[in-house]
Amino acid sequence: MNVLILGSGGREHAFAYKLSQSKKINQLFVAPGNAGTDSIATNINIDPTDFQAVKKTVFDYEVEMVVVGPEAPLVEGVHDFFLEDEELKSIPVIGPKKDGALLEGSKDFSKEFMIKHSVPTAQYQSFTEETLEKGKAFLETLNPPYVLKADGLAAGKGVLILDSLEEAKSELEEMLTNQKFGEASSTVVIEEFLDGIELSVFVLTDGKNYKILPSAKDYKRIGEGDKGLNTGGMGAISPVPFADQAFLDKVEESIVKSTINGLKKEGIDYKGFIFIGLMNVKGNPFVIEYNVRMGDPETEVVLPRIESDLLDLFEGVANQTLDTKEFSVTSKTATTVMLVSGGYPEAYEKGKIVSGLENVQDSIVFHAGTKSENDNVLTNGGRVMAITSFGDSIEDALQKSYENIDKIHFDKMNYRKDIGFDLV
Ligand code: AMP
Ligand code: GLY
Repeated sequence: MNVLILGSGGREHAFAYKLSQSKKINQLFVAPGNAGTDSIATNINIDPTDFQAVKKTVFDYEVEMVVVGPEAPLVEGVHDFFLEDEELKSIPVIGPKKDGALLEGSKDFSKEFMIKHSVPTAQYQSFTEETLEKGKAFLETLNPPYVLKADGLAAGKGVLILDSLEEAKSELEEMLTNQKFGEASSTVVIEEFLDGIELSVFVLTDGKNYKILPSAKDYKRIGEGDKGLNTGGMGAISPVPFADQAFLDKVEESIVKSTINGLKKEGIDYKGFIFIGLMNVKGNPFVIEYNVRMGDPETEVVLPRIESDLLDLFEGVANQTLDTKEFSVTSKTATTVMLVSGGYPEAYEKGKIVSGLENVQDSIVFHAGTKSENDNVLTNGGRVMAITSFGDSIEDALQKSYENIDKIHFDKMNYRKDIGFDLV
């Protein structure tokens, strides 16, 4: 089968890595891809949200399945575009349609969905410019810290957690009346603060059946000890030790089943991944958010642990036969550490030569922001590459990642030296 992956990060390199091992793969394409995908697949230099360009790629390369990495093409309706096109509608797309993508595209929609389908989540109310005063009054009824969320996609920046009531009120006003996050904050969700430890659980569904993929924890802050600015993710670990079987059983019963049943009841035919951001509050799981794609860098630890053929699973998603597919996961721990450009997540330089990759042993290098030029790998983004290793323990796997990182170099390279610090 010829498969096209949309996206260009570490997540998409991990998809390409896993799909390239499939017995069923013929040709693999990544659009636009990076220097890592370039070495195991064919990169196609198009924008994944340019659907006409995607269509042309599908015809030019006789693509038989499309796997969508990031949320933007899903929220903008790439799957709907395929279904509405006579020539494309028989080509399966792994990733939900616009209606399902609203679980990530609108916090207001996803909160309403959770409450309606009895998925445990923080209590909340939504407000617009017209109801600003009611929003301020609602804040007065809550205990600090106050959680304010822009309804729409705001590049991961739309959530504010504030200790002071006055600040919460003025930020609410900034979001609603001064469009602090543009159109995304024309509706704001205010919710109860959940005190606990975060982790993520990933589900692959064909709309009827599901497989629960390995759990993972990512490290979002730039600085050690979880300090400093938020990033796309600086490292990840799978499995999460505190997510034991009893906890995961609760996740399946109270969250996964209610979510899949809720989608069915809403008439949303969902084919793809659901990334469930959870808070473990005294042993009970609460949903913080849904994403309609895999996480990055979580994918770089979750997919390598899956022993089954990923393309076979994707065929099960497309044909709604996921229940018949074999699914197994290694008990080994996987860790990944992200190498980033100096300055990231603020301003940083690109185009630095990455050296030493040929010396890496016993780790997998997943490229994120890289490109190849004249036989060199050059940095081409804030997050440059993720170094994934397996081990019998978190410490063991991390040691391999860090030993290999010592062999890799680029100007102003930065990374966190304490991934997993809270788990070991
Ligand atoms: P979100 O974009 O919804 O994932 O929120 C970003 C981050 O804010 C999450 O990863 C949590 O760390 C934090 N967060 C969101 N909602 C809550 C909440 N209700 N209670 C505590 N922390 C939260
Ligand atoms: N690592 C978090 C995300 O992919 O959203």
